Amino acid sequence: MSDNYVPSSKFGKWFNDRLPLLSLSAHLREYPTPKNLNYWWTFGGILTFCLVAQITTGVVLGMHYVAHADLAFESIEHIMRDVNYGWLLRYIHSNGASMFFLAVYIHIFRALFYGSYKSPREVIWIIGMLIYILMMATAFMGYVLPWGQMSFWGATVITNLFSAIPLVGESITTWLWGGYAVDNPTLTRFFSLHYLLPFLILGLVILHIWALHVPGNNNPIGIEIQKPSKDTVPFHPYITIKDLFALLVFLIIFSGFVFFSPNILGHPDNYIPANPMVTPSHIVPEWYLLPFYAILRSVPDKLGGVVLMFASLFILIALPWLDRSKVKSAIFRPIYKWTFWLLILDVSVLGYMGAMPAEGTYLLIARVATAYYFLHFLVILPALSSVEKTDPLPLSISEPVLKG
Ligand code: HEM
Repeated sequence: MSDNYVPSSKFGKWFNDRLPLLSLSAHLREYPTPKNLNYWWTFGGILTFCLVAQITTGVVLGMHYVAHADLAFESIEHIMRDVNYGWLLRYIHSNGASMFFLAVYIHIFRALFYGSYKSPREVIWIIGMLIYILMMATAFMGYVLPWGQMSFWGATVITNLFSAIPLVGESITTWLWGGYAVDNPTLTRFFSLHYLLPFLILGLVILHIWALHVPGNNNPIGIEIQKPSKDTVPFHPYITIKDLFALLVFLIIFSGFVFFSPNILGHPDNYIPANPMVTPSHIVPEWYLLPFYAILRSVPDKLGGVVLMFASLFILIALPWLDRSKVKSAIFRPIYKWTFWLLILDVSVLGYMGAMPAEGTYLLIARVATAYYFLHFLVILPALSSVEKTDPLPLSISEPVLKG
């Protein structure tokens, strides 16, 4: 909060003394931002836009969608054909989910490269991981709503995973389904939760940004601000204009998908109404869940696969304590830099294998990539923390900026 802010009008002062919203807005405008931030730091703003766009288009879609197993598929066709600009709303929402994940992956890998998860930003990171897990749950349930073949069978495969839990697994699965198979009660609860979770995400985003404003931003060289007057610029207009420009470029790419190839990221089987009697030859989730799907299938035992899949997520929460290196930015970490790119390669390979049948060479590659994923976080990172010889750090944020 900006403590020394005094509203100019009498009413403003009266209101601000009772609810300091004007001080908050002054704080956001003046927020001292490191002056060396690059374009990878614009994705937080882009993500905020994505969340707002998903909620607004989703709320309007919800006015026309019918959450019933007999009507859901037709109601989507009704939105596409009869509702004014319904096709646009739907394509923005479905492609928006993909763009949201694209942005969140860039945002996460930015944090990994520049060590933004390290002290004193562990809580920002953990809240971010909670957001990410909720995003996956929301997207998974959203994909079930059109009640196409992939919706139905995707829901069946994923909810069935819970049956692998010893003793209580079967009961949990029946409880999740609201019956003895994926059916109307499953669809209605998924719709209800799909509507609810984005608002929880919104709440977490507010906490995420609040936690960010305590230590302030990390930056490409990973050195904390020493002299705010020299090392920072006010958020407005310097960062707002940069964020807006990046958002514009992002929107051009987004529009490319919406207007020129709106179905390229979807699966054609989801244009076939759900049929519990016909299993599709190849059940695949949306692209953004594929790496986890590959980990899940890389273990021959169902329970083992489920445990490993959840472990691959929870390991990320522990990251600030697995990587103990004092140097944040990969720019000054000659070995970590390479392991970072190897991790990107590894996750991409996992994603590709997730889309392939789990057999033969594909399965073998998925297993090696899964092993490397865990090796990276559990062995390589902790080891590097003590053995890596890092490069000398600049004295301050402004030193390389002014020199350059
Ligand atoms: C709805 C999703 C999200 C939104 C709207 C969001 C928003 C933001 C914003 C506005 C910032 C400041 C600007 C920037 O650094 O880009 C930020 C920073 C950050 N976010 Fe997120 N975020 C989201 C998800 C995540 C996730 C999934 C993670 C990681 C698990 C994460 C980790 C971080 C970290 C570590 C920072 C601090 C970066 C720094 O100080 O330099 N965020 N986020």
